[in-house]
Amino acid sequence: LPDIAYVNGRFCPIEQAVVSIEDRGLQFGDSVYEVMRAYAGQIFALGQHLDRFTRSSRLIHLNADDFLAELPGLLEEALRQSTYGDAILYVQLTRGAAQRSHSIPADILPTRIITVRPMEDSYAAEQAEGVSAVGLQDIRWAHCDIKSTNLLAGVLLKYEARQAGAFEAILFNERGELTEGASSNVFVVIDGVLRTPELSERILAGVTRLRLLELARQDGIPVRSGVLSREDMAGADEVFVASTSIEVIPVVRFDGKPIGSGQPGPITRRLHELYREMARRPAGD
Ligand SMILES: Cc1ncc(COP(=O)(O)O)c(C=O)c1O
Repeated sequence: LPDIAYVNGRFCPIEQAVVSIEDRGLQFGDSVYEVMRAYAGQIFALGQHLDRFTRSSRLIHLNADDFLAELPGLLEEALRQSTYGDAILYVQLTRGAAQRSHSIPADILPTRIITVRPMEDSYAAEQAEGVSAVGLQDIRWAHCDIKSTNLLAGVLLKYEARQAGAFEAILFNERGELTEGASSNVFVVIDGVLRTPELSERILAGVTRLRLLELARQDGIPVRSGVLSREDMAGADEVFVASTSIEVIPVVRFDGKPIGSGQPGPITRRLHELYREMARRPAGD
């Protein structure tokens, strides 16, 4: 089966999809994106992804109105053509192609991209057994709330984590406060309370984060957002990372030492179970 791409008005197999070498997404990372997931043919939390995409576009002064108007239909069509039930949908809007110059050209048409890839239970082992993570300095910029494709810092941090045999890099700002993972939000359980950094310009407002906090509240799990230190992490009863792609993955070792019992914890398990139930429910939105 072909993995489907959509570029500027045309659907085609992914290998045939091309953009200009002068695209500003390529040259400057001048673009925004979303990653969504479909479960059994239904796009999960579409509204929240579209809201965040709208916000990211605005914050980089990129007019996404035309693309946004047709996006739900395009996503449905891309998913239908792929025939995948469980899929990862990637959406990217770049400033467009123009002769290279830092300043934003006046008349430029944004480049519109969608891809669909199958998503099986790719992280089943990590979800079941847990992973290790390392703490690293957050070397990213001051607007991590914008989901932009300027991802070099994240790529280098993930490389460093993988070199150290860890699944994820857990990041701390210059004051030693937890921000998020290189490609995930981070949650900590201390004395039965679910804790996570509050939203700021230094972290991405994860759709999974939001859904998990709602589920925790509904389930009677106490929730608190606020500052968390490296010591809080190291001494936590449970830690997990969360995103659209990985859902919930327990962190059972941090900087080489076990977290809590060294096994995935009960609140992590419970929240993942609730999340999966919700995502797989028809109209889980
Ligand atoms: C830096 C970062 N934080 C958080 C997330 C989680 O966001 P979401 O739950 O919307 O996928 C991601 C997703 O890949 C990410 O790259």
